[in-house]
Amino acid sequence: MATTFVMVKPDGVRRGLVGEVVRRMELKGLQLKAMKLLQVSPELAAKHYEEHKDKPFYPDLISFITSGPSVPMVWEGREAVSVARTIMGATDPVKAAPGTLRGDFGLAITENIVHGSDSDASAEREIALYFSRQEIV
Ligand code: RTP
Ligand code: MG
Repeated sequence: MATTFVMVKPDGVRRGLVGEVVRRMELKGLQLKAMKLLQVSPELAAKHYEEHKDKPFYPDLISFITSGPSVPMVWEGREAVSVARTIMGATDPVKAAPGTLRGDFGLAITENIVHGSDSDASAEREIALYFSRQEIV
């Protein structure tokens, strides 16, 4: 069974959207394997977003993701990586389809509510950044 890493970003937590994110993943049939509330440190943010370090939006990304508590989660299910990203919608909420989290609740590209791993390899790497083995059921 596939697993993926999903995180409610600080804007999602501030706006009270944690339950909505969890609800949609659960109703789709994904199984929750781990979840916690934490403040992402600048060090952890740098590791998480290493692939974007040379992008023009990187400084905004780091200051935003460290701006308040986030809710990292591990979800399991068939094709979990792509299923979670379908539930989230396109990166830019302007382009995200209605019925997706970003399509229904977002407008800004940096503050786009959720993060989801983009491949099985990213999922494995990101899960290991946020959770120890004992924290995953
Ligand atoms: P995520 O990693 O958050 O799940 O989103 P994603 O795969 O759909 O998008 P990605 O390309 O990995 O970008 C990571 C996050 O950077 C912000 N971003 N800003 N200003 C911009 O052009 C821009 N492009 C991306 C978004 O917050 C995106 O989620
Ligand atoms: Mg990404």
